[in-house]
Amino acid sequence: MASSGSDEDKRQKGESSDDKDNDTSSKARRRRNSEDEGTVDMIRRYLAEKLGFFDDDKKEVPEEKTKVLTEASVDGVIKYIEEHNCRNVITMAGAGISTSAGIPDFRSPGSGLYHNLEKYKLPDPQAIFEIGFFRHNPQPFFTLAKELYPGSFKPTTCHYFIRLLNEKGLLRRHYSQNIDTLERVAGLPAEKIVEAHGTFHTSHCLECRQEYALDWMKERIFSDSVPSCEKCNGVVKPDIVFFGENLPSRFFSCVEKDFPKCDLLIILGSSLAVQPFASLIDRVTKECPRLLINREKAGQRDRLMTLLRIGSGMDFDSDNNFRDVAWLGDCDEGCQMLADKLGWGDELRKLVTEEHARISKEQKEEASKRQAKHPSGQKKSEVSNPMKVLNM
Ligand code: OAD
Repeated sequence: MASSGSDEDKRQKGESSDDKDNDTSSKARRRRNSEDEGTVDMIRRYLAEKLGFFDDDKKEVPEEKTKVLTEASVDGVIKYIEEHNCRNVITMAGAGISTSAGIPDFRSPGSGLYHNLEKYKLPDPQAIFEIGFFRHNPQPFFTLAKELYPGSFKPTTCHYFIRLLNEKGLLRRHYSQNIDTLERVAGLPAEKIVEAHGTFHTSHCLECRQEYALDWMKERIFSDSVPSCEKCNGVVKPDIVFFGENLPSRFFSCVEKDFPKCDLLIILGSSLAVQPFASLIDRVTKECPRLLINREKAGQRDRLMTLLRIGSGMDFDSDNNFRDVAWLGDCDEGCQMLADKLGWGDELRKLVTEEHARISKEQKEEASKRQAKHPSGQKKSEVSNPMKVLNM
């Protein structure tokens, strides 16, 4: 809306200066009229199509698309990976890759976090992660952070599949919206990960920007206090990205470098509902295949958005789609299926079994050390790593 307002402003400014020059003025008016007609035509076509009385004769000629996959299916993608010797695969992940580890996603009906926040009496569920609301009332966020503080989570088959993609030399970068750090726990090197929505690892005072470490924040969360800065008494917030805040600069610099080079995009466990992350799917070249592994289709733009050129999104269903594939189901199952087809199935199963055994052993050792240190006992939930508070 703001942008259409400023366009109008510019037009008005243009008109008054053009009054001095009738010729320029009439040209400007003609151009404006034709722009307006174009917009009206776009909206007319969109509405006509939606309402089911689209005139077939005037249907747009579909954009010519390169046939990048021999067939728009998982087998087509596997064949493409093998024939094109992919070395620049990008994975994009959301909360759905961690639900099998026990961390809720945001929008799934019933189990999603946004459907279970009534008791916080928020103006709307997303307010708990809005910077404006947080500044005014940080308590709900910290109460939720403590409540969801996990005992222990283990990376999922999907996380280990991403690690294997890297170890096999296929992965250019993994972009995650999650802050559970399970990619790191799974052994994916830090330089391969872009934590688009930040991290719980460090925190900063909202006023003086003083930095605080993980342990400091953990102590405050569990003492039921809103963390306040030791220097200026301002509220201290973990460095996770709230609505209304900028994404880390690493996100933007990596996107610039990575997406033009991407030779296969795999989207895992995300509703692709939050910008600017969701629009990354439009940053790969038109020849780049895109595979979605998710319980539901995501990333399709409606016709109006396409006409208004707000990205074309995924195109799973049109007749001339030769690059977008949706595999609907659980991420772990989908990733195991991909690994099987690539011939790494047993390696993935073995990796998951061994890593889970190793993590369980470490967790037990940690728990007994803690027990020895604090024989009176901590609350069950007060263990492990506060980076795994929420998956956002
Ligand atoms: P959502 O909750 O919006 O979407 C999760 C998607 O994963 C849904 O489409 C689910 O159907 C799907 N899903 C859940 N479990 C799955 C499983 N085991 N296998 C396959 N699919 C599964 O979560 P995100 O897309 O990550 O941002 O949400 C994006 C952002 O919205 C978050 O990073 C957070 C939130 O508001 C901020 O707070 C800034």
